[in-house]
Amino acid sequence: MNAQPAPHVAVCPTPDDLAARAADMIVSAAVAAIAERGRFRIALAGGSTPEKAYELLHSPERQSAFDWNQVDWCFGDERFIFDTDKDSNYAMAKRTLFDKAPVKLTSVYPISAEFSAPGKAAQAYAKKLAEVFQIPADGPPPRFDLILLGMGDDGHTASLFPGKGSLREEKAWVTASLPGVLPPRLDRMTLTFPVLNAARHVLFLVAGAKKADKVREILHDHPPLDTHPAAGVSPTDGELTWLLDAAAAEKL
Ligand code: 6PG
Repeated sequence: MNAQPAPHVAVCPTPDDLAARAADMIVSAAVAAIAERGRFRIALAGGSTPEKAYELLHSPERQSAFDWNQVDWCFGDERFIFDTDKDSNYAMAKRTLFDKAPVKLTSVYPISAEFSAPGKAAQAYAKKLAEVFQIPADGPPPRFDLILLGMGDDGHTASLFPGKGSLREEKAWVTASLPGVLPPRLDRMTLTFPVLNAARHVLFLVAGAKKADKVREILHDHPPLDTHPAAGVSPTDGELTWLLDAAAAEKL
């Protein structure tokens, strides 16, 4: 029997509504975390779906809702490329958010790819997370206030792809990941399930009809994570929300 509480599933009519709702949820999480713990630590998702939400985050009302100096901006995954490359998740967040909002740049923590191999980049990012969270690097995983995730048409999330060894990582916080079948086919670094499932809240942002089958399978059929990596996300002591647009939810 699955002891985890059921995820919250919220369906928005359009991708724009989804983006606005996501931006509002990020703001609420920031307000609550700063009020309770003085700091908001978020891991951003890559891909295209969150772009609009990042842009909406710096609307005047949202900008003034919380203290942006109290935010640590981390990343859930990254491609093994320079952060100036158009396919870099950091570059997307910089363009849509960091360049436009009152973000304290010393509190932005990209997953640097300036290493000889993705495994080294992953280890370095785990050390960086230990510094950001001020916790021992060999202890329990960091507990993010909010982790944003997307889901690929193949059911992958972050850079945890079907059938790959990274799905079975139980100890490392960050690991290297071989490319999946979807473009861009680049080596990656990704947070692992131990970190995703230690979060206070994980928020999936999923839009588009091409994802509807996987959404239904994951939310209704409890498939194995080897074929549906996103199904492995189930915070042990936190919330899980799937924010969908109507097209992604059409088979529910
Ligand atoms: C990445 C991601 C990845 C993404 C999904 C969904 O770096 O590729 O973080 O997991 O979230 O592929 O991407 P879309 O939002 O573009 O569909």
